[in-house]
Amino acid sequence: MISREEAWKLLKKYNKEEFHLQHALTLEGTMRYFAKEEGYGEEADYWAMAGLLHDLDFELYPDQHCTKTQEILREYGFEEKFIRAVASHGYGLCTEPLPQPEHTMEKILFATDELTGLIGAAARMRPSKSVMDMEVSSIKKKFKDKKFAGGCSRDVIKQGADMLGWELDKLFEETIMAMRSCEESVNLEMDKQNIEQ
Ligand SMILES: [Fe+2]
Repeated sequence: MISREEAWKLLKKYNKEEFHLQHALTLEGTMRYFAKEEGYGEEADYWAMAGLLHDLDFELYPDQHCTKTQEILREYGFEEKFIRAVASHGYGLCTEPLPQPEHTMEKILFATDELTGLIGAAARMRPSKSVMDMEVSSIKKKFKDKKFAGGCSRDVIKQGADMLGWELDKLFEETIMAMRSCEESVNLEMDKQNIEQ
């Protein structure tokens, strides 16, 4: 495994858009939170790195999403278990056949990828611009409103909850908590990033 600093550099080599960097950082923090919650605390860095790098290829190779990432990660010497986990978040969504999420880590990555986008979009509408005062009820409303953040697939979110055997409410609540846990660090890293540019 490469260090977190090297992984961040790798991400920035393939991603320049603020939206993509912020999404990667959010998934990094979200996965770290869930690792601890689900009893995989000693693997928290591993889960977090999967979150950070899961969309590595999306900005430059949208047509080869999840396939190109596997190539790049192999070049960088990542183990197959990690590569499989990252690729499985595109299960059923990409043209190439990809592994089905099986491990809890893979299911959570699959379930939270689109949902963090929906919650993030809802947060930006709030006066606070934050998830800190976000309630599950408001996400339930946004989830039902298909016109809101239409790019965030409700089917994928539902499928992810089903894989985990969780009610949607539990997935919403836990993902809000996960995003609360990392909102400040994500914002700080993005500010730093904008100053450097
Ligand atoms: Fe993603």
